[in-house]
Amino acid sequence: MKSTTTSPIITIAGLTKDFGETHALRDVNLTVEKGEVVVLLGLSGSGKSTLLRHVDGLELPTAGDVTVLGQSLPALRPKALRKLRGRVAMIFQQFELVPSLTVLENVLTGALSRVKGPRLGLATWPASLRREALTHLERVGLLHRAYNRADQLSGGQQQRVAIARALMQNPDVLLADEPVASLDPESSDVVMKLIREIAAEDGLTVVCSLHQVDLALGWGDRIVGLRHGEVVLDTPASGLSKAAVMEIYGRVATTTTELTVIERELLADAPRGRDAAPALADGAAS
Ligand SMILES: Nc1ncnc2c1ncn2[C@@H]1O[C@H](COP(=O)(O)OP(=O)(O)O)[C@@H](O)[C@H]1O
Ligand SMILES: [Mg+2]
Repeated sequence: MKSTTTSPIITIAGLTKDFGETHALRDVNLTVEKGEVVVLLGLSGSGKSTLLRHVDGLELPTAGDVTVLGQSLPALRPKALRKLRGRVAMIFQQFELVPSLTVLENVLTGALSRVKGPRLGLATWPASLRREALTHLERVGLLHRAYNRADQLSGGQQQRVAIARALMQNPDVLLADEPVASLDPESSDVVMKLIREIAAEDGLTVVCSLHQVDLALGWGDRIVGLRHGEVVLDTPASGLSKAAVMEIYGRVATTTTELTVIERELLADAPRGRDAAPALADGAAS
């Protein structure tokens, strides 16, 4: 038996998930070691969100197993699952903040599992947690916005608040589901760099889904490609060329939209920016 220091943080074995007739994931096998920064790359509908939701214990497999931090999620009882989920933080494309609450209160909600009962208003949170939340806001560069309503912030700022909220869980694992799909290129860069920086400083293990090839190649340590619920690529990001990635997706594109997007992407050599090459999936990516 391996010691815990060398066990993978995430082990996915033979994971299959069906939603009725839809095969969202098919026999996915994946191991993620401590401190790895993994990109899940795939077109819209390829199963990225479903995979991340299994790692966060939000879905039960149709078949197979998901082990996180040494515990098999499908086997866990609700209380143990809640405890484990406390060590796994997640951020989302649409940030999922409470718009009418202050930035600080939104960050504090990341500590809800650490307090008993609901909280109504800032003053009802322990001072120690408020101080902690402020340090996380400082880390994401938003201390000065602590007392603004969340909906007064830009998209990029809201995602940084969501990162601060995730940190409030003191997580071991950070899952990010298309965290920059709603952001402009400049804000995307800020958010992606911030995630990397924090992951390195805190020794976090990160799995982040993206549908933009350029962003994935420039950001992750390792690229895992999903297509129609299957892993079609699992390789270090360094040395991987865009053409190689596009080859994989080009070969498997099944719809006209996918092909058009991929062809544009292959032909484009424009830098990222307002007129940047389109992403693998169109704007409707979920
Ligand atoms: N709750 C659900 N009920 C039914 N079908 C779903 C559900 N969640 C996902 N799917 C289907 O599973 C497939 C994978 O979806 P998803 O994981 O959201 O892909 P991605 O995040 O890569 O866009 C899609 O065909 C999607 O329609
Ligand atoms: Mg998705």
